[in-house]
Amino acid sequence: MPKRFPAINPKFPHVLHGGDYNPDQWARTPEVWDEDMRLLKLAGCNAMSVGIFAWSSLEPAEGQFEFGWLDTIMDKLADHGAFAVLATPSGSKPAWLSRTYPEVCRVNADGTRQAHGGRHNHCRTSPVYREKCRIINRKLASRYREHSALLVWHVSNEYNGGDCHCELCYAAFRKWLKVRYNNDLDRLNHAYWSSFWSHTFTDWQSIQPTDRGIHGLMLDWERFKTAQTIDFFQTEAEPLRELTPEIPVTTNFMTGSSTLDYWAFARAVDVVSWDSYPAWHETGDDTLEAARIALLHDINRSMKGGRPFMLMESVPSIPTRGRVKKRKRPGMHLLSSLQAVAHGSDTVQYFQWRKSRGCMEKFHGAVVDHAGHEHTREFREVAEVGRALARLDRVVGCGVDAEVALVLDWENEWALNSGARVYLGDNVKYRQDCLAHYRPFWNAGVSVDVIDQTCDLGAYRLVVAPMVYMLRPGFADKLAQYIEAGGTALMTYWSAVVDQSDLCFLGGVPGNGLRQVFGVWEEESQSYFPHESVEVAMADNNGLEMRGSYKAVDTCSVVHPEGCKVLATFAGDYFAGSPALTVNRHGKGKAYYLAGRAEDAFLEAFYRAQIKQLSLTRAIGIELPEGVSAQARGDDTGQYVFLMNFNDAPAKLELDAAYTDLLTGGKVAASLTLAPYGTMVLSK
Ligand code: GAL
Repeated sequence: MPKRFPAINPKFPHVLHGGDYNPDQWARTPEVWDEDMRLLKLAGCNAMSVGIFAWSSLEPAEGQFEFGWLDTIMDKLADHGAFAVLATPSGSKPAWLSRTYPEVCRVNADGTRQAHGGRHNHCRTSPVYREKCRIINRKLASRYREHSALLVWHVSNEYNGGDCHCELCYAAFRKWLKVRYNNDLDRLNHAYWSSFWSHTFTDWQSIQPTDRGIHGLMLDWERFKTAQTIDFFQTEAEPLRELTPEIPVTTNFMTGSSTLDYWAFARAVDVVSWDSYPAWHETGDDTLEAARIALLHDINRSMKGGRPFMLMESVPSIPTRGRVKKRKRPGMHLLSSLQAVAHGSDTVQYFQWRKSRGCMEKFHGAVVDHAGHEHTREFREVAEVGRALARLDRVVGCGVDAEVALVLDWENEWALNSGARVYLGDNVKYRQDCLAHYRPFWNAGVSVDVIDQTCDLGAYRLVVAPMVYMLRPGFADKLAQYIEAGGTALMTYWSAVVDQSDLCFLGGVPGNGLRQVFGVWEEESQSYFPHESVEVAMADNNGLEMRGSYKAVDTCSVVHPEGCKVLATFAGDYFAGSPALTVNRHGKGKAYYLAGRAEDAFLEAFYRAQIKQLSLTRAIGIELPEGVSAQARGDDTGQYVFLMNFNDAPAKLELDAAYTDLLTGGKVAASLTLAPYGTMVLSK
């Protein structure tokens, strides 16, 4: 039975619907504010993210605060039964701040300070910037703490892992290193293998994160930036938490990017929120894009133990990025919005409510167009989402039961993209690889938690760990114990190669004891160009009902069995006959090892076999047509199955029981056709 969680803010136990709202841009024409209120009612919006980039309107000169306009907006929202996801404004700094205190601007690797401009580019260490943020955040919290419209704190905007090479950051980095290495420079030198190229550090002061050749140092720099960003966030959150302890605090993650370790960050927020910008109709395969986004939604849900997250930003039509911009086709807006809810979001929010008249994002999709009225396709589709969400109160707080865990780890990704890239080059493709292993479960309607190496494995029936190149402390033991206790796991080529400092394990790969657990030794690997592949031949009686042959691409490893059973072998290249897939009995469990990057058809067949053998729960007990996804959320009172057709063509389904569609309230026919980009939410 999936767990039930409280609503994001229990004072409003409904799905939040709204968007980034910048009334400060329209202060000259306050009649627009009244029109906003009329329109938000029509669009079924109830939660507006206010003030994200409003610092220069809130504090036009140092120490001179103007909250009048925001008072009016907060009151108007409350009068119209809507709420504020109230922002702190640190995402973009006013010009007076950069001019008076140049230290707030980041410094490039060559030592030059960045000019004022752009956004998301403050120095995360600067004591002045921190102090200025603390002051304005405290003012916001004390002014609106009793306001009935205040629902959630939206701290800053899309913190990122961009570099700042100023002396303040370097000093903080060195301090952080001293803690990490227990003040022991020799320990650091060993971790960095710094005698290579004569880079041994003889004093802390010489350490600077500009030497991309020292992989351990690069990893620590990434770790430091995450730690320092979280520290900055805590500084921002402190007055909010002190003055409004009952208001949840979040900051919008960019889960699709490798910029920060969001697993670490998630521990610091009350609720996870993220910004999702799929490239619908742009990649030639919407179903692959749908699976990619599903995986990202699942990370956001998994990051707080299954607690519903917020889809803080999405776009009603098109973002202003990408070479060719495709608008969402009819149906896609409702579908992609409900996809987030299906995977555990309790909100659907947009960037942006109203198009700005000028600057970068004036053509970016918005609920309200420059035309200024509700008679646009975009507005109608948003209003349709508003009506749909209003029928989903029962889903709010519902959890997802996942028996499968996919390990996608940010620190490992950093290591793959620096340390492993020197060998694997463009064939690293870590996220693509994770997606390939996720897709078969998405196809079958089997829920997946997407976890990192710090998570518990105990609750899962199957753990899939593609390319765990870098082992974080404790992961190997945890995986071994999980398998020993009866779990099933799959690990692939390029796993357990290095430790947390990107130092290679000695004694054979997979290292750190996993060679015994998986019963294999990986001697070497070979990379391939995109036009090349290697045949994989299934062994007879492989126990997976897989027959014939498949292909492996990009990278294959030469593996020696050490007590495991060989289920498939490579049938090409100089290592023909060596194992491609093995299984080892370890304790009560099974440890599969995949020695090459297998094509999708192989993964589909392999995971189908696992789903069957482990009797993994599916959202609905029917075969799903290709491109149709089924995801379930529920609690002890009910189970809700989201059926989503990501094809630009109708899809026929035969249901296994009698259902009602929550979106219409009507009974669902046993033989049903989902429209192109059609969605239903079934309840028994
Ligand atoms: C997001 C950002 C928003 C807006 C949006 C445009 O990354 O948080 O402020 O710029 O992109 O797609």
